[in-house]
Amino acid sequence: MNQMTQTAPPWFARASAIPSSWLYESFRLANERERERPGLIKLHVGEPAFGPPDSVAKEFAAAAVEGRARYIDVQGLMELRERLVDKLDTVNHIDTEPSRLFVSPGSCQGLSSLMRSLADSGAEILLPEIHWPVHLQQVLLAGFRPVFYKLDEHFAPDPESIRQVAGPATRVLLLNTPSNPTGAVIGLPLQRTLYEMADEHGWQIISDEAYEDFAFSGPHLSIAALERDRPAPERIVNSVFTFSKGLAMTGYRLGYVAVSRPGTATAMRTVQESCIIAPSAPVQYAGLAALDASGALAGNHDFVRGNRDALSPLVDEGLLPALPGGGWYAMADISSTGLTGEEFSAELMLHHDVVVVPGSGFSARPEFAPDGSMRPLKPGGVASGMVRIAFCVDRGQLTTGVERLIGLVREKREQ
Ligand SMILES: Cc1ncc(COP(=O)(O)O)c(C=O)c1O
Repeated sequence: MNQMTQTAPPWFARASAIPSSWLYESFRLANERERERPGLIKLHVGEPAFGPPDSVAKEFAAAAVEGRARYIDVQGLMELRERLVDKLDTVNHIDTEPSRLFVSPGSCQGLSSLMRSLADSGAEILLPEIHWPVHLQQVLLAGFRPVFYKLDEHFAPDPESIRQVAGPATRVLLLNTPSNPTGAVIGLPLQRTLYEMADEHGWQIISDEAYEDFAFSGPHLSIAALERDRPAPERIVNSVFTFSKGLAMTGYRLGYVAVSRPGTATAMRTVQESCIIAPSAPVQYAGLAALDASGALAGNHDFVRGNRDALSPLVDEGLLPALPGGGWYAMADISSTGLTGEEFSAELMLHHDVVVVPGSGFSARPEFAPDGSMRPLKPGGVASGMVRIAFCVDRGQLTTGVERLIGLVREKREQ
C-alpha cells in the first residue's frame, strides 16, 4: 500500500449510492420473463397504444436528409420556441418569452437541468411522499436534500404537511399534476393555496406537467397561470412539458421548460450548454410538425380516458380510492392481501402473466450519515403495499390484466 491509499479518507461518489430507477428493474424482469412466456400483459410501462402522427416522422426524416441538422442555439430553435410561447399562452395561460424558454432532449433532461440551475449547497426541495423515482434521482444528483410531504387520501398534496416539513433551507416545491404514479390532479383551490405558501416563503415551484393532455376531471390547469400578470423577475413557477405523452413521441426525446425569472434563465443556459450544447435540430423540426398535428390530441385523450374508466372494477374492489383524475397511471393498494408490492407483482407476473410495478420504488427515502454523505438508497416507504398500473395501453390487455389482478387479490384475501 502506498502513502496515498493509507491516508485517503473513504470516498465514494453520490451517484453510486443512487440505484437506477426501480422501473428499469421491472422492465428487466418483464423482458426476461417474456422470452420464456411471450404474450405477457404489460401494465408496467408507460408506452401508449397509439403512436405519433405520420407527419412527425416525415418532417424528422426530411430535416435530416436536407441537412437541417447542425448545432443550433443552446435554448433550441427560435421558430419552435416562438410557437411554444404561443401554445403556452393560448393552451396553458402561461405568459413567457423565447428568452425564458428552453427546449430539451425530453422533459427529463429539462427537469434535470432546471434542478441543477436552482440547487445550492444545503438547499432542500419538497417532494411528494409518493413520487416518480426519476424526480428523486434528479434531486439527489443536483445536490438537493429531499424532504417529503404527505398526500391526502386521494393522493393530492397536503398543505398542512408541507408547512410542517418545510424549513429555513427549503428552496423549491415540486408539484406533478397529473401525477405519475398516482394519477392525482391538483385542482385550482389547492393550486392557489400552494402558490401562496411558496410565494410567502420565497420558494420556487417546479411544476412537472408531462401529462397535461390527460386531465380527466376538468381542464388541465398550469399553476404558472396564477402569476401571468406579475413582472418576470418576481415570478416563482418553472413549468416543464413534453412531446412524449400527448402525441406518444416517447423516443423522439423532446421537451421544454418555461423558467420563472431571467436570472434562472441565465443559470439554465450554463447548465444546458455544459450538458447538451444544444438539443437535436431534426427532432425540433419534428416538434414543429407535431404542433401542427395537435388535432390528434383529443382522440388520444379520449382513448386514455376510456381506459381510465375501465379501472372502475379496482375502485369497486376497494383497491383504488377513486378513478385517477388524470395521467397514465394508478396506484392500487393491495395491502389487504398481506403481501408486499414486490411479492404481489412477482406472483402476478409468474402465475398470471401480468406485469405491474411494485410501489416501494415510488416512496423510497434516502438516509444521510451525520457527515452529510448519503447511504445507499433502497426502495420502501408508504407505497410498499401498492402496485403501479399503466392504463395507457391496449384496452383489451388492460381489462384482462385488471381482471387477473383482482382475481389474485381475492385469492390471497381468502387464504
Ligand atoms: C412525471 C414525468 N415527468 C417527466 C417525464 C419525462 O418524459 P420525457 O423525458 O419523455 O419528456 C415522465 C416520463 O415518464 C414522467 O412520468
